[in-house]
Amino acid sequence: MSPFHVTRTLPENATDAALRADVLEGLTRMPKTLPPKWFYDARGSELFERITELPEYYPTRAEREILVDRAAEIASASGARTLVELGSGSSDKTRHLLDAMPGLHTYVPVDVSESALRQAGEALVAERPDLHVHALIADFTARLELPATPGPRLVAFLGGTIGNLVPVERAAFLAAVRALLAPGDALLLGTDLVKDEGVLVAAYDDAAGVTAEFNKNVLRVVDRELGADFDPDAFQHVALWDAEREWIEMRLRARGAQTVKIHALDLAVDFADGEELRTEVSAKFRMDGVRAELAAVGLELTRWWTDREGRFALSLSLAG
Ligand SMILES: C[S@@+](CC[C@H](N)C(=O)[O-])C[C@H]1O[C@@H](n2cnc3c(N)ncnc32)[C@H](O)[C@@H]1O
Repeated sequence: MSPFHVTRTLPENATDAALRADVLEGLTRMPKTLPPKWFYDARGSELFERITELPEYYPTRAEREILVDRAAEIASASGARTLVELGSGSSDKTRHLLDAMPGLHTYVPVDVSESALRQAGEALVAERPDLHVHALIADFTARLELPATPGPRLVAFLGGTIGNLVPVERAAFLAAVRALLAPGDALLLGTDLVKDEGVLVAAYDDAAGVTAEFNKNVLRVVDRELGADFDPDAFQHVALWDAEREWIEMRLRARGAQTVKIHALDLAVDFADGEELRTEVSAKFRMDGVRAELAAVGLELTRWWTDREGRFALSLSLAG
């Protein structure tokens, strides 16, 4: 079997400290917010995988279609010997890319979800005895230190996850990604596209209620990790399209006035009846905007592919 390494790039207590800081900051401001990375404990990662199979959630199928059609082109345009994937999750769609890269030396999946990384990594090394897999348990919004591996490097950021960053965070994130790239390296970026509001809202508010469970999972994480007493049933899942900012917002709306105690922070948080806590934004993009955001950090968009219905795009940018 090929080598499988897992590296935790953060100190053991960093997750706890970061969660405390985010919860304190996010629940003592108005309007209240929590960052989406806290959805993804083992249960959250499983719920996300169920979301990807829902009839309403088109992004995974659309991006897979592009990968199936274009993997060979991506492989030959990048000539990559190392594939780094940010927010890799199950690495399921990535298989299409990996299959088109027989000369690939190392795959570096990066995710906050240790369970997802271990599951995906163990399956991969069993299937691809030639491939080194070096998983990083890390926050992709923090400074990343990648293992020394052969170039060229292709950094992939799939699933439209970049849309979970607001514009100012995206600019900082893209600049940090650019700094990881040497001349000849490339970025493969998945972006969900602006489309009909009904289609967008349904993708984040499915009839079976899986996305609602995923959204409320952040409350379960805070309850477990910080000794809080959120009652997930006391909050309603809300998905809204913000036409001006061209993003979906997921929120949790308090069903009735309530006070939530967060013991680890010695904090009591009051929610008014109907008050909303923002848990995720998911920005939708247009080609010109993506091109401009990449150009702002010195990356030139060289290829742009969409699925046949034009719902989702993959772009390839080269570092000069
Ligand atoms: C929307 S899912 C996409 C998963 C996969 N790339 C796909 O396309 O299906 C987002 C993934 O990014 C991970 N993630 C979210 N925020 C993160 C962060 N700040 N640092 C590292 N991983 C993060 C989650 O654990 C999850 O696996």
